[in-house]
Amino acid sequence: MKYFLPVIYGLLLVNVVVAQELDPYNYSIQKTFRGRNGAVVSAHPLASKVGVMILKKGGNAIDAAIATKLALAVVYPAAGNIGGGGFMVAHLNDGRNITLDFREKAPGRAHRDMYLDSAGNADLDKSQYGHLAAGVPGSVAGLFTAHTYARLPFRDLIAPAIELAEKGYSITEEEAEGLNSERENFLKYNTTTTVFTKNNPWKAGDTLVQKDLANTLRRISKRGMKGFYAGKTAKLLVAEMKRGGGIISRKDLRDYKAVSRNPSAFKYKGYDVVTMPLPSSGGVLLPMMLKMTEQFPIAEYGFHSLKAVQLMTEIERLAYADRAFYLGDEDYYKVPVAKLTSDAYIKERLRLYKPDTAGNSKAIREGSVEKESEETTHLSIVDNTGNAVSITTTLNGGYGACTVVGGAGFLLNNEMDDFSVKPGVPNMFGAIGGEANAIVPGKRMLSSMTPTIVLKNGKPHIVAGTPGGTTITTSVYQTLVNMIDFNMSTFDAVNKPKFHMQWLPDILFLEKDFPLEVSAALEKMGYEIKRRGQIGRTEVIKILDDGTIEAVGDRRGDDAAEGF
Ligand code: DON
Repeated sequence: MKYFLPVIYGLLLVNVVVAQELDPYNYSIQKTFRGRNGAVVSAHPLASKVGVMILKKGGNAIDAAIATKLALAVVYPAAGNIGGGGFMVAHLNDGRNITLDFREKAPGRAHRDMYLDSAGNADLDKSQYGHLAAGVPGSVAGLFTAHTYARLPFRDLIAPAIELAEKGYSITEEEAEGLNSERENFLKYNTTTTVFTKNNPWKAGDTLVQKDLANTLRRISKRGMKGFYAGKTAKLLVAEMKRGGGIISRKDLRDYKAVSRNPSAFKYKGYDVVTMPLPSSGGVLLPMMLKMTEQFPIAEYGFHSLKAVQLMTEIERLAYADRAFYLGDEDYYKVPVAKLTSDAYIKERLRLYKPDTAGNSKAIREGSVEKESEETTHLSIVDNTGNAVSITTTLNGGYGACTVVGGAGFLLNNEMDDFSVKPGVPNMFGAIGGEANAIVPGKRMLSSMTPTIVLKNGKPHIVAGTPGGTTITTSVYQTLVNMIDFNMSTFDAVNKPKFHMQWLPDILFLEKDFPLEVSAALEKMGYEIKRRGQIGRTEVIKILDDGTIEAVGDRRGDDAAEGF
């Protein structure tokens, strides 16, 4: 009894706080926040509010990040997750920059050609949906590893998520649309009945209750990592695999570990940029693209000027061409990172750049980056003691594999599609790859997720990141150039239309509202242009020199900035 009392008391305390500060049935979306004590920007207002509650309780930015991510796993099932993975970049107030890799891994029984049919053709249905699409989940291991830098007990951080799952919350219009659009997939790729389908279409304001998920979160609260990677949850996951023809085993789960890596860190215009290294391609592409940009007086060209957009497009093309050939999990494949990001290579690469004319990616095979859903999610958090956290986490596609672990209530990722399932065959984001990103048991698939922190005089200045598949790195790149070179407000840097070029397909993608006259001029220069719905959902926090915190949630979704 002596042992249990504090636990029960702790839970009660958090529940009272939840009830007081969080009304899951009635909430609004705040896009910007300005203040001094701390801020959280995430894809869902309830999750941002949970993060701020934890900061107010005395948690630091890491505590808030853990609680926000767990809340997202409940209130943002499309991407917030415990069945997926991600990356964390953090700056700690003792001056350390840390990164955590909790990316999913290929299961032990995965093999290079597992998605090829007998004729040798790639079966993308298998790499993108259902049991076989799932990599070994990393999120829970990531959260427990991050917790070593936190202040509050883990059970306090998970309590709000448990309550939101148990009692339910009102879904937004965007969530209703997402659930309705995946209805057929939920029915097709599950072996049990899930809470994500019902007889009538979902509408805004409906309550989503997730009892099985609440129980899984309770097991994690009680048993830590073992509450997910062993015991009942692991048993349910492996049983689900057996029923649905998947290959994740008890051993895969037991062996999963999050990894601390050396950050990708470099200078840009006097700032220190800290971002995620491989298996994030961002850790190579962001320095490449910013270093190339630095060779030109881009501020003089001006934001959305023909000259600036053409230059940045060609820079993106050059960097992404290297991505396809060279980048993969460095634990399994030797990647020439130092060479690719060296000043000499940058200069040599830029010899291929021609102003005033459209570059040309030799068509090897053209993929489609038409998908407009943004089913990864980013959160940016700062506290008032100098800590900053940038986490991007993903299930890959919307609602991942669309497969729920029966009895455990969480969605599995479809991250295996981020491997190169066959050389030259585009993945769901149109990205191609080869040997460097081929499937090997235990290997991590290449990612675009680029959680980033920019330091000014050694202190957090910009915390940024976004979902968007291969557009992630270009969105982060453009957001930083907008803020640093074009001196743009945080709000505009996030919300102004973005563009994207990824070498193949040789198409310049422009957001719907991108200025017409610039796109006409680009077309005249020879670019093939396609308009697309939205690029990214960028969450940015800027800390001004006087300590004021400015937080902005992207207009492109339910994203919300909260603080105090
Ligand atoms: O890790 C990656 O690069 C992808 N799995 C991210 C997926 C994503 O951003 C989905 N949103 N469109």
